Amino acid sequence: MSNSRRNFIKKSAIGLSAIPTLGFISKSNKESLSNIKSSLSDLSDNSYWSEVRNLFPTKKNQTYFNNGTLGVQPNYVLNSVIKDMQNNAINGAETDYKGNGPNLLSGYADFISIREKIGKIINCDYKEISLIQNATFGMNFVANGIDLKKGDEVINTDQEHGGGFAAWRQLAKRKGIVYKQAHIPVPVNSKEEIINSIVSLITKKTKLIAVPHIVSVYGTVMPIKEICSVAKSKGIFTVIDGAQTVGQIDVNVKDLGCDAYYSSLHKWLLSPAGNGILYLDKSISSTIWATLSSYNWDNNTDIGFKLQQSGTGNPSLLVGLEASLDFFNMIGKEKWLNRIKFLGKFLRDNLKTLDNVDLISSSNEILCAGLTTYKVEGVTGPELQKVMWDKERLQPRSVGKELLRHSVHIYNSEDEISRAIEVIKNI
Ligand SMILES: Cc1ncc(COP(=O)(O)O)c(C=O)c1O
Repeated sequence: MSNSRRNFIKKSAIGLSAIPTLGFISKSNKESLSNIKSSLSDLSDNSYWSEVRNLFPTKKNQTYFNNGTLGVQPNYVLNSVIKDMQNNAINGAETDYKGNGPNLLSGYADFISIREKIGKIINCDYKEISLIQNATFGMNFVANGIDLKKGDEVINTDQEHGGGFAAWRQLAKRKGIVYKQAHIPVPVNSKEEIINSIVSLITKKTKLIAVPHIVSVYGTVMPIKEICSVAKSKGIFTVIDGAQTVGQIDVNVKDLGCDAYYSSLHKWLLSPAGNGILYLDKSISSTIWATLSSYNWDNNTDIGFKLQQSGTGNPSLLVGLEASLDFFNMIGKEKWLNRIKFLGKFLRDNLKTLDNVDLISSSNEILCAGLTTYKVEGVTGPELQKVMWDKERLQPRSVGKELLRHSVHIYNSEDEISRAIEVIKNI
C-alpha cells in the first residue's frame, strides 16, 4: 500500500466510533481526473460531449436510456471501486485493522470528507448528511425514527414509488396514523394543481407531508419549495423523496426549506449502486431516532454520523462514491444539469411533433427535466422498448403495459434521441 494512501487515514483513539476516515482517492487516480479535465478543456460543445461519452464503459453501438432505474458509472468511478477492492484483498494480510491499513469496513466511520463534498452540492453542513444505502433506507430511517402517534395524519401522493409510500402505510397499520393520498393529475401542467391537491388535504391533525421531488413514473419536477413553505407555516414536518434528483436537477435543501430529504446517488449522480444520502435539517435532526443503532447511537454532536452507522459494508463503494462526486465536479454542476435539461427538452420537442405519440409527462417545461414518459399509438410499452432495441440498440424502459420512460443523461446525444424518434415515426 502506498504511503500516500496511508497518510490519508485519520487516526483517533475513541474506540470504534473513530475507525479511520479515508481521503479515499489515491493520488494517481486524482491525477487521472485532472488529465481528463484538461483533455476536455478546449473542445467545442459537440466534441466535448462526444469525448465525455468515451469516458463511459457502455458499448459504442449501444445506447442506455434507463438512467432513472440506475446510472452508468464512468470508467473513472468503476476503476476506483475495482482498484480499492483489489487493494483491500491483496493487502489484507498486512493490515493492522486498527492501524494504518485500508479501511476494511464502511459502516462505522464518519466519512467527513465525502459528506462535505455532498454538502457543497446540496447546500448544507456535513453534519446534516448521513451516507446511507439508498432512498428506501432514507424513507424508512425517517418514518421509523420520528415519533408519530395514533391519529396523526400523514399526506403522501398517489404517484409514489414503493420507496416513497411503504413506510408510511406500514405506520398506518402498525401505529394507527392516518394515511392520506393527494391525487396528482396525469399529465399535470401547472404547479398550482399540484400544490392545491396536497394543501387541500391539510387538517389540524396533519403532522407530516411526504412527497417526491421528481415523480418516478412521469418525471414531474414537483414544486417542493412552495409545498414546504405552506407546511412550515402550519408546523408540519416535510420529508422529500429525492431518489431521482441529485445529479438530475439542482437540489438546494436550504432553499427548498424541507425538514428531511433523501436521495439515491446511484441514479443521476452516477455513483456505484448502494449509495444514497439522508439530509436532516439541524433544527429537527435531534428528534429522529437512529433506526440502525451502533456505537454512535447517542452522538448528538454529529447526528448525520449517528444515523449512518450500519455495521460492516463494502468500503470500496464509498471510494466509488467519492470518485463520482469528483467526476461530477470535474464536469461542473451547471454544465452537467444543463446538458440533461437540454437533451430532455430536445426529446420532448421532437415527441410533440409526432401524431402517434401521447406525451404523459408534463408539457410544461418548468415541471420537466431528464425523465420523459410517453405512449405510442398501437404498441404497448414493452413492444416499443423491444422495437427500439431490435432496430437501433436503444434501451429505454417500459412502465406498466402502455408507457415508455425515456431517461437522458450526459452520456446521451441528440443523434441517439433522433434515432429513437425515427423508430417511433416508422411504427
Ligand atoms: C421517486 C423514487 N423514490 C424511491 C425510489 C427507490 O430508490 P432505491 O431503490 O434506490 O431505494 C425510486 C427508484 O426508482 C424512485 O424513483
